[in-house]
Amino acid sequence: MKLITTLQHFLSLASLPLPLPLASAQLDKYAKLAGLSYFGTAVDNPRLYNPQYMSALQSSDEFGSLTPINAQKWKNIEPVQQVFTWAEADAIANTAKAGVGGKKTLRCHTMVWFKGLPSWVETTYSRADMEHILTAHIQNLAWHFKGRCYAWDVVNEAIDDNGVFRQSPMYKAMGIDFITFSFKTAAKADPSAKLYYNDYALESPFLSPGPKISITLAMLRTVKAQGGTVHGVGFQSHLKVGLVPPRSEMASTMQQFLEVVDEVAITELDIRHSPLKTPSTRAMWEQQARDYGEVVGACLDVNKGYGGRKCVGVTVWDFTDKYSWVPSEIPTEGEACLWDNNYVKKLAYWTVLNMFKSAAGVSKRAAVNGTDSESETAADHGVESVVTGRARPVPREEEDQGGGTRTVVATTLATAVRVG
Ligand code: XIL
Repeated sequence: MKLITTLQHFLSLASLPLPLPLASAQLDKYAKLAGLSYFGTAVDNPRLYNPQYMSALQSSDEFGSLTPINAQKWKNIEPVQQVFTWAEADAIANTAKAGVGGKKTLRCHTMVWFKGLPSWVETTYSRADMEHILTAHIQNLAWHFKGRCYAWDVVNEAIDDNGVFRQSPMYKAMGIDFITFSFKTAAKADPSAKLYYNDYALESPFLSPGPKISITLAMLRTVKAQGGTVHGVGFQSHLKVGLVPPRSEMASTMQQFLEVVDEVAITELDIRHSPLKTPSTRAMWEQQARDYGEVVGACLDVNKGYGGRKCVGVTVWDFTDKYSWVPSEIPTEGEACLWDNNYVKKLAYWTVLNMFKSAAGVSKRAAVNGTDSESETAADHGVESVVTGRARPVPREEEDQGGGTRTVVATTLATAVRVG
């Protein structure tokens, strides 16, 4: 009886897809061969205790960079003025350092943001007091993580969807000077880190109703003219399935920024179904795969155009739907990541991997000959049929001043809701 049960169990297992071997963990490996510096993921501290999550996170060659999702935000790192709590951010930095198959790069996020502030910052300060507060905050962060951060998102989301500077406590005390001041302070405290301005809806002029891109470009020029050091711009890329700007448009926007800064990166990529329909259909996953392909393709195209590493890397804002931030912000939207809730890789994963492989010159024939089993696996998922670029309507995104969400209807364009 026991034997029959065991046999039945074995047979039922045999009909399930087998878990992929570790060798299938290759996004970072092929991103590097395709000319990027890394493929990374964001990670939040509670996940560090989930062994299944950690085995995917640490698997060799999949992720070459980590970004702390919340651990370095102001309210977590300096909850009380001049009292710094490093444990959570250190835990992520140590995870990056202990990466299986090699140390991972750390993208540090973020020093100065209008959200995630402790209550003691959320009040009115004079210019001199705010300078003092920013100096202490930025110096301590930069010094503590010195030598560990490849890049710092020094200032995050300073401009709203209408192209207006956000009324943060920093802005209220110092006007736009708080931006130059922050970049100058960071450069002095850690001259070796790449200093970034990071924001959403910079990917295309159609993603926000206002002139956000031109205002951001003008702001960056001003900061640099005033002696601030800004090395890079991060394109968050929290996007919606079916409403992703065409690859060529995103590439040309990145090029515009590269006239002002040395490098750009995709820093928080996820592409959510909006609304999320159940049951899901293959068409949904194919569209999502195409959309991921557009974003990654734009980054690769930028590098091709410059003949070098200018779009330096891609970071996803967590890799599994199990921990995506989207449903907790908008319960009707989601499934935005490359891995599903059960850590199964989606079509979008294979699309991204195959794009890196084809940019790296890895041929299908090598796969069939057995020298590159992963391409074969990707082909098994029918990915090639979904890797085709095309023009389509693009969304507008808007976020209200209070940090909530609202819907914007554009006459000729589609509708989008900003998660945030
Ligand atoms: C988000 C986190 O994912 C959430 O867990 C948190 O509650 C709010 O912040 N842009 C950013 C990120 O720069 O820091 C935000 O992360 C997502 C939008």
